[in-house]
Amino acid sequence: MNGLRRVHRGSAIVLALYALVHLANHLAALDGVASHIAFMDAVRGLTRVPAVEALLLACVLVQVGTGLAFLLRRRGGPMPPFLRMQAVSGAYLAFFLLVHVSSVLAGRFVFKLDTNFHYAAAGLHLAPFHFFFVPYYGLAVLALFVHLAGALHLLVRGRVVAATRVRMGQAGAVLGLVVAGLILAAFGGLLYPVVIPDAYLDNLRGFLP
Ligand code: HEM
Repeated sequence: MNGLRRVHRGSAIVLALYALVHLANHLAALDGVASHIAFMDAVRGLTRVPAVEALLLACVLVQVGTGLAFLLRRRGGPMPPFLRMQAVSGAYLAFFLLVHVSSVLAGRFVFKLDTNFHYAAAGLHLAPFHFFFVPYYGLAVLALFVHLAGALHLLVRGRVVAATRVRMGQAGAVLGLVVAGLILAAFGGLLYPVVIPDAYLDNLRGFLP
């Protein structure tokens, strides 16, 4: 394994752990907004420790940088369908992570908002922002599961038959769609009424012409 791949894999372990806990946090919203906020408060006990948050943010930059380096290296060359899926899901995750993390940091330090359930849900409750936020979040969850299934596919190569590896990829995509649908339904107010405080809606309205 070359150095770039080793670094990509190392930061992926940290980020994947965070992302899985993070999505479990969002799934807690199925039980209501209070459950989501209580879960996030508990997670912040660790992720708001400056050294831990710095490590997480460094992993985001390393992951995006090494991922884009892979894409550039492969540009124009032949790619089997599975590798193409890995490249497309990785490219979307790179875009999403840069926008998402910048938006969370801006929410906290520029707009002085608590970046909790309401910060994420506001865009789903104010037209025309939902046209952006539904695919933006939905595709992120789908891309994460497809990308992780792709990584697993590479790890077990040579140990399981090709048909099993294809089924692993399909299972990843189905799981991603289900998790994305559940999170969007809860955040979007389809499961129970969601009231977004004015401070969050006013912040978004500030982006309208
Ligand atoms: C439906 C999808 C998602 C929603 C609604 C969402 C929402 C949020 C919110 C509200 C925060 C702020 C957390 C806090 O203040 O403690 C956050 C932070 C973050 N999210 Fe997400 N997220 C989603 C998907 C993802 C995915 C798929 C990833 C990774 C692949 C991800 C990575 C991150 C990272 C790295 C942070 C920054 C943590 C920090 O600075 O402490 N998110 N997200």
